[in-house]
Amino acid sequence: MHPTTNIAIRAARAGGRVLLKYFGRADTLTIQKKGRNDFVTEVDRSAEQAIITVLRKAYPEYGILAEESGEQQGNDYQWVIDPLDGTTNFLHGFPQFSVSIALKHKGILHTGVVYDPLRDEIFTAHKGNGAFLNERRLRVSTRRGLDGALIGTGFPYRDQRHIDAYLGMFKDLVLETAGLRRPGSAALDFAWVAAGRIDGFWELGLSEWDFAAGALLVQEAGGVVTDIAGGKRHLKTGNVVAGGLRVQQALLATLKPHLSDPLKNG
Ligand code: IPD
Ligand code: CA
Ligand code: CA
Repeated sequence: MHPTTNIAIRAARAGGRVLLKYFGRADTLTIQKKGRNDFVTEVDRSAEQAIITVLRKAYPEYGILAEESGEQQGNDYQWVIDPLDGTTNFLHGFPQFSVSIALKHKGILHTGVVYDPLRDEIFTAHKGNGAFLNERRLRVSTRRGLDGALIGTGFPYRDQRHIDAYLGMFKDLVLETAGLRRPGSAALDFAWVAAGRIDGFWELGLSEWDFAAGALLVQEAGGVVTDIAGGKRHLKTGNVVAGGLRVQQALLATLKPHLSDPLKNG
């Protein structure tokens, strides 16, 4: 295993331990509002610190982009960290959340780790070396289209600029697939696409730390990740479509009629 993957796993497990310590004790936490439907607690912050401590010790010269503490400059490498993906679930005691850590080199994804501490499932990918769940190699599903497909998504519950476009997409996909799921942790949604548990996924307005690791997992599991218009701007726009090749193409085709002007650019 590549050394950066090892370190990212160690860091994700350190973050996961903090999450498990507090899970189910939301009544004891101080919840602060960062924006509409956007909450942060000492759990997010202390998990992030635990993660950064491990990464910094191993690679002090690398830069960092972390959801709660922001950016720290470094060399051409940058860790991209979401210490608790699924905060709303976490605060409600809803058991679906994860730690997400990616490593970029000059903007290219090199390592991705998503950790589900409740199931003790660690999803890892290193560019060119495949994707794994614990020790097991992952492949995206081989489904040939939307018929019978199970598709994941996330609702635009914070930024509602594209709500009408989203609801149009949602309606068409309810009609064309076997089912839609909104588990509530985008990083895990991508990991589950990589594992073939869902056939595809789409969401509008994600942040880079939500899915940088997940995007590499899907690609290394043989899948495709693009922006909403089929281009490569997803890490910038946060509008993203993922899946096995055929499902991903079918998703893009179904979403296309709903792309309002800003979404046409990805
Ligand atoms: C959120 C989760 C959720 C997605 C949101 C994200 P957070 O991250 O990934 O599934 O729908 O867009 O912001 O705030 O829980 O880290
Ligand atoms: Ca997140
Ligand atoms: Ca988060």
